[in-house]
Amino acid sequence: MRQSSLVVVANRLPLDDNAAPDGACEWRRNPGGLASALHAILAPTPATWVGWAGGVGRAPALPDVGSLRLRPVSLTEDDLRGYYEGFANSTLWPLYHDAVQQPVFQRDWWETYRTVNQRFADAAAEVAEEGAAVWVQDYHLQLVPRMLRDLRPDLLIGFFMHVPFPPPELFMQLPRRVELLRGMLGADLVGFQREQAAHNFAQLARKLLGAEATDQTVAIDGRTVRTGAFPISIDVAEMRALVTRPDVVSQAKQLRHDLGQPKRVLLSVDRLDYTKGIEHRLTAYSELLRDGYVKVRDTVMVQVAVPSRERVESYQELRDRIEGEVGRINGEYGRVGEPAIHYLNQPFGRAQLAALYQTADVMVVTPLRDGMNLVAKEFVAAREDGSGALVLSEFAGSAAELEQAFLVNPHDVDGLKETLLRAMQADRADLAARMAAMRRHLAGHDILVWARAYLSALDDTGHLATLTGVA
Ligand code: ADP
Ligand code: G6P
Repeated sequence: MRQSSLVVVANRLPLDDNAAPDGACEWRRNPGGLASALHAILAPTPATWVGWAGGVGRAPALPDVGSLRLRPVSLTEDDLRGYYEGFANSTLWPLYHDAVQQPVFQRDWWETYRTVNQRFADAAAEVAEEGAAVWVQDYHLQLVPRMLRDLRPDLLIGFFMHVPFPPPELFMQLPRRVELLRGMLGADLVGFQREQAAHNFAQLARKLLGAEATDQTVAIDGRTVRTGAFPISIDVAEMRALVTRPDVVSQAKQLRHDLGQPKRVLLSVDRLDYTKGIEHRLTAYSELLRDGYVKVRDTVMVQVAVPSRERVESYQELRDRIEGEVGRINGEYGRVGEPAIHYLNQPFGRAQLAALYQTADVMVVTPLRDGMNLVAKEFVAAREDGSGALVLSEFAGSAAELEQAFLVNPHDVDGLKETLLRAMQADRADLAARMAAMRRHLAGHDILVWARAYLSALDDTGHLATLTGVA
């Protein structure tokens, strides 16, 4: 077994097994923030990524991707139900996102979650060199840091939570709250997207474990665990390179043409998830059409909603509701050859996404709660000419950084309608000033800056930052 000095552990590998049927291998990114962000850093790094390749049964043998080794972890049908669809995505995901969907507490899921976390920890322990750093990602694997510390006290262990970490009144609902907290505290450094999350964590460590805790450190079992906010970002250089490619520029022009050369294009790009506020957005848009503020011939809305977690009931119900509503809106307000909403339920390549971002006049990003939301940052990075408006939910982590967006509370449908109109009607100079400020921020806070901040906080010798090329 080959070992590495840096091991990343995430539920998903960035590469699906069916992307490499004959050993030929290319990145097929999972449409999700975690894979998008880590891909940029890890592709050229001699590290090992431990994760699930999708599907059930024996894990496929995956070839290396550049210098990065992939170590698949297998899941059975029962694991998938209890761990991934159950505890991770029906209990933790909704609870951590302000319980915008009722979390399900099903007792037998816990044991599967624990067993699968142990499997990930065992796999990571196997591929980690003596004294290696292991970087564990996200809510699926909250028990792994402690399990790893028990197996391999020699390791340097990092944990990063990509989603919001909730306030005590929500976290306290979890039947296994103490184990989950202790699990994360197996790490040397626990990173969050926002300072508020580190604050919530400290409060819980005091309340549930009686630990001495500040927003920067938690003292537990004679060790000091460091905590902090490290807002994740995107590969700005990749997006810049994409949008200046001639084929992407002409694809964007063609898209606008295919949409009927409207005066305005509104765009939303989300995983089909109830946290993304798609229904609130459709209600607002449909009322603007009803009241005559928006005319189908002038304005087109494009909603990309890539299927996600399709076997989970709440996601199936959401999809039915959204598709019903899009059908109703198009039936009522569309014309022959001129739908009010173009609804695309498909994954897109990076170049296609870049072309879409270039085509849009108003990007509408209105999650009810989101750890960060990279789509908002991708849109800003894609606007090389400084044009375009971003309507952004106050409840997305990115709102703390992209302050010049048209910020909105998506629960307030009247406010959302008013903000959409303001963004559509804003004058060019106002938009250009806002976009310039957001682009400046992003240029200084890209994914490399995030990785450098986290990895140098984890390892102050600078070895990890050098290894990953972010130093
Ligand atoms: P989340 O992680 O909750 O899905 P983010 O906005 O942070 O939300 O990240 C979504 C990522 O998935 C972005 O990098 C975006 O470009 C990508 N993505 C979204 N929709 C699609 C799609 N239809 N096809 C391919 N990638 C997508
Ligand atoms: C969010 C989570 C990621 C996850 C992604 C896609 O970004 O934080 O951990 O990978 O959604 O969801 P999926 O269930 O398809 O992995």
